[in-house]
Amino acid sequence: MSSHNTTARITVRKLKDMKAQGEKIACLTAYDASFAQLLDNNGVDVVLVGDSLGMVIQGLETTLPVTMEDMLYHGQAVARGLQHAFLILDMPFMSDASVEQAVINAGRFMKQAGANMVKLEGGADQQELVSTLTRLGIPVCAHLGLQPQRVHKLGGYRVQGREHEAAERMLEDARVLEQAGADMLLLECVPVALAEKITQQSKIPVIGIGAGNVCDGQILVLYDILGISAGHIPKFSKNYMAESNDIAAAVKSYVAEVKNSSFPSAEHCF
Ligand code: KIV
Repeated sequence: MSSHNTTARITVRKLKDMKAQGEKIACLTAYDASFAQLLDNNGVDVVLVGDSLGMVIQGLETTLPVTMEDMLYHGQAVARGLQHAFLILDMPFMSDASVEQAVINAGRFMKQAGANMVKLEGGADQQELVSTLTRLGIPVCAHLGLQPQRVHKLGGYRVQGREHEAAERMLEDARVLEQAGADMLLLECVPVALAEKITQQSKIPVIGIGAGNVCDGQILVLYDILGISAGHIPKFSKNYMAESNDIAAAVKSYVAEVKNSSFPSAEHCF
């Protein structure tokens, strides 16, 4: 396949070019091959096998019980459905408890599931791990802001970085992690003004979820945009099935709204 083919696999380099050119990056989660193929065919740039699968697939209350084996099972299934989109796998809770353990686990994602990148939660405390993975050639997305794996420490699912000190700390976390070699940042539930500062100071793509349309791209949980998640739908999400006749149309509409910056609008932001 020619490197000029429009269906060529999206790479880390392409994602950085998209940021540089102001082209928004449309990301969604997926957990199986059929949905992965549908997202791939309908313009999604990045597919994340999130540990949100613990909640939306397994019916758990938090993401904490999700295991490496769960992630590998779903990661391998999603990989089989993708030809074009960039594939990220989430490091589950405790899989990165030490650098040694994290290296083995991230290596399994790359070797056994064909991941293009791993995502891990944490701030500057992950500096050593990010630089080790970078040295080994494993691209990293660093997840800042609300980190669901730390829900018990945070005392609930709440917006992060509202206070001046916390905002400064997050700006510094973003700097340190980019310096350590991270190729992407993800900001979850962060005030728009802070997300804008982080996006402007970073050369790597910054993907938002509940962080405003100022980021370089957006991500949502697939089952939320399809209106099939049980229970509470977060403020930052949108049910695209409400205005679409079928799933492919809903995904296309999400991608179009991310690309033209109409999603997220003020009602989805903090
Ligand atoms: O686990 C997940 O799906 C995530 C997204 C919500 C960003 O981390």
